Amino acid sequence: MNSSQKLPESLDNVTILVAGGAGFIPSTLSEFYLKMGAKVIGIDNFITGSRSNLEKLFKYPKYEFHEMDIIQGLPNLSNEKIDYIFSLASPASPIDFKIIPLEIMRVNSEGTLKLLDLAKEKGARFLEASTSEVYGDPLVHPQVETYLGNVNCIGPRSSYDESKRFAESMTMVFNRFKGVDTRIIRIFNTYGPGMRPDDGRVIPNFINQALENKDITIYGDGSQTRSFCYVTDLVRAIHHVMFCGDSTPYNCGNPDEYTIKECAEEIIKVLGSKSQLTYRPLPIDDPKKRRPNISKLNSLSGFKPEVSFSEGIKKTALFFKSLKKERVAPEELSVW
Ligand SMILES: NC(=O)c1ccc[n+]([C@@H]2O[C@H](COP(=O)([O-])OP(=O)(O)OC[C@H]3O[C@@H](n4cnc5c(N)ncnc54)[C@H](O)[C@@H]3O)[C@@H](O)[C@H]2O)c1
Repeated sequence: MNSSQKLPESLDNVTILVAGGAGFIPSTLSEFYLKMGAKVIGIDNFITGSRSNLEKLFKYPKYEFHEMDIIQGLPNLSNEKIDYIFSLASPASPIDFKIIPLEIMRVNSEGTLKLLDLAKEKGARFLEASTSEVYGDPLVHPQVETYLGNVNCIGPRSSYDESKRFAESMTMVFNRFKGVDTRIIRIFNTYGPGMRPDDGRVIPNFINQALENKDITIYGDGSQTRSFCYVTDLVRAIHHVMFCGDSTPYNCGNPDEYTIKECAEEIIKVLGSKSQLTYRPLPIDDPKKRRPNISKLNSLSGFKPEVSFSEGIKKTALFFKSLKKERVAPEELSVW
């Protein structure tokens, strides 16, 4: 553990700004901090976020929300003390890379710049949510933070990959030359309640196909690997970095690695589905291997993921069922 910094027990007098507050990870993070007693201010333009993710947050009197596009500007916060800023506003799904690439590039550059300027003005600590995509199709496995990556800067994923690399670079400029206290996390594939069921990523696709006993579509031969982190484990990892980390990047994820075929088979088993596997061609630039080395995060404060893949899949499936208006007991919908 970094001896000078400890995880706080309560955040009663703290104000936290969450950019992208209606998103999947950001809304889960917001609830975590509201439970710890913080005031949380969310900002979102709903480009990929959902109003239903905010319902649980409005139950807390210390939650405030602004519907705004952070590329255009931030709300008037002149009377507000802000202690921590989480830069989480960015579409993150490969289907978004095809439909809204310029919005992705602008929010990760112009939007992040506005948040960094605010951090400088308020003396707030700033955290940039970067991504494992900065490693591209990695030639080093598992990926360590010192690996500089293998990104195709003109490929179909580059709007996301390169703008996140730019956001990391800008964060370091504010740290080195403007005295802002910053953190960078590189998030690996995360799943759980609150994610869009139609966002095109592998877990929602497989769960939805399994729930309907339809064929599960595997792109390629299914031997490509991914490591999936349940959202509450990710939120705990972010919390550890914000409060105990330093300004260098931290991989955040779960190092358990599955081939895509194993992942489909596990989902079929856990959900008791009758689905069969079908195969389609692999998209261009699809990374063949993804697995975080989280030793650096682990050495901060002993962080380890706690939620098993089968447990996380059950909870995510219940959330998707509830979106389809199937009856699910409220206590089964808890993300934690
Ligand atoms: N989910 C993952 O596996 C994953 C992996 C790596 C990195 N990340 C990063 O984590 C963060 C959250 O990802 P997520 O999966 O929760 O995605 P998400 O799409 O659910 O959340 C992002 C939120 O940002 C909002 N947003 C986007 N552009 C905005 C703008 N210009 N102004 C205001 N709000 C805006 C969206 O409406 C959405 O609510 C993103 O920065 C993403 O790049 C996620």
